[in-house]
Amino acid sequence: MPCGIVVVDRQLKVHYHNPFAKRFLYPGANQSPPEKFSELVFFTTDMHLFDMDDCMKNIISSVKRNFHKTLILKNDETERLVYLSANRLVEEEQEFFLFTVSDISDEMDCITHSPGTFGRGEYLISRKIIGRDQKIRDVYRMIALAADSEVNVMITGESGTGKELVADAIHELSERKDRSFVKVNCAALSETLLESELFGHVKGAFTGAYKDKTGKFEQAEGGTIFLDEIGEISPALQVKLLRVIQEKTIEKVGDNKPIRVNMRIVAATNQNLRERIKEKMFREDLFYRLNVFSIHMPPLRERKLDIPLLSGHFVERFNRSTGKTVKGLSRQASKILMEYPWPGNIRELQNAMEHAFVLVQGSLIEVEDLPAEVRNFSGTDNRETFAGTTLKEPGETPIQKSRGGQLRISREQLKAALERHDWNQTRTAEYLDISRVALWKKMKKMGL
Ligand SMILES: Nc1ncnc2c1ncn2[C@@H]1O[C@H](COP(=O)(O)OP(=O)(O)OP(=O)(O)O)[C@@H](O)[C@H]1O
Ligand SMILES: [Mg+2]
Repeated sequence: MPCGIVVVDRQLKVHYHNPFAKRFLYPGANQSPPEKFSELVFFTTDMHLFDMDDCMKNIISSVKRNFHKTLILKNDETERLVYLSANRLVEEEQEFFLFTVSDISDEMDCITHSPGTFGRGEYLISRKIIGRDQKIRDVYRMIALAADSEVNVMITGESGTGKELVADAIHELSERKDRSFVKVNCAALSETLLESELFGHVKGAFTGAYKDKTGKFEQAEGGTIFLDEIGEISPALQVKLLRVIQEKTIEKVGDNKPIRVNMRIVAATNQNLRERIKEKMFREDLFYRLNVFSIHMPPLRERKLDIPLLSGHFVERFNRSTGKTVKGLSRQASKILMEYPWPGNIRELQNAMEHAFVLVQGSLIEVEDLPAEVRNFSGTDNRETFAGTTLKEPGETPIQKSRGGQLRISREQLKAALERHDWNQTRTAEYLDISRVALWKKMKKMGL
């Protein structure tokens, strides 16, 4: 039987092993199985280190769903991913527990790293920022390091990759966690509004300033300020921000009394700031002040093995919020999720799953439940669904257009296309082969 069976009593004393269990759990020819199950194996669930006692209690207390995807560290230091299940047996008034262990590592070969290297902080992060890929594990480590220090942090990455979650995690793990975490979207406001939002103003500073206003920098006192879409701030504000960082003081709009501030700055952008510096749109000195520590969020298409994990996470989440009892995705639907390039990254995956939850009938999400753009995309075989327009601008990611007219384009790509046409909307729309209204809508949506 290609599955290990171990029978133990409450004290984890081993009463029975089948041959597979012996081979699998205790590799090495002449090792006899230990007396206690706990002596040998070390289990982790959700990357959390468990000892066997904890693990058993856990499994027993939630007997209903006793399939646990679990990592097992074997005594030869190798690591395998298994399905572990436990059942309680009562024999002649004696209580036993029957464990079955099935090896599923080969299906999940994304596990490359020993969970033993996980610190507590990283464990906490991994509960919120889901991922197993090495790239995301490196991010966990970077977050933990950033949280331990006081330096300013710059988070880069495409839209929907989780930059805000990272900023949040840095704050939550830092010494500043009991003070405020203040978010500002620098792209959402005009220059003057953003200035008074950040610095505050005094009554009468400008028309409409009826009373004093405390700015976000002051609100973040002792805590963290998250400056989202930092690439969007105007040159004048860049100078002011630089001064805040250097002098640790601010001046309210309409007042020149310096106020001391103490906050950690975490900034994020989905633009290439080094390019913006070259274009003289972003100050290099400010960049280096903000980019003391940088964290890059990989796009989902570069960590595809996380797709099943993330979709499972969203299934659980939407089950909780909708009261449905969806078990997962059909084979075909899972395959489609793996093939789709996810230009909108995790946000798009989350939206797709939410969409599916509205439509799903049975216990499995079927292909028809997925949004049309995901469903109708199918890797290389279906390239003809693209209208032949594959614009390469800028960098490597091509701008793709589906036959339905839906243009898949990142903010950076759209901006580059606009810049290339001196922000002339008619010509840009022609270039992208979409209507001016469609272009305008996209610009608005992307805050351009
Ligand atoms: N690794 C992850 N695990 C679980 N949820 C995630 C993960 N990454 C992102 N999300 C979810 O995806 C959505 C988008 O994430 P977030 O807002 O942090 O992205 P962003 O990089 O700030 O995007 P934008 O540049 O568009 O602002 C959020 O709802 C977030 O909760
Ligand atoms: Mg964001």
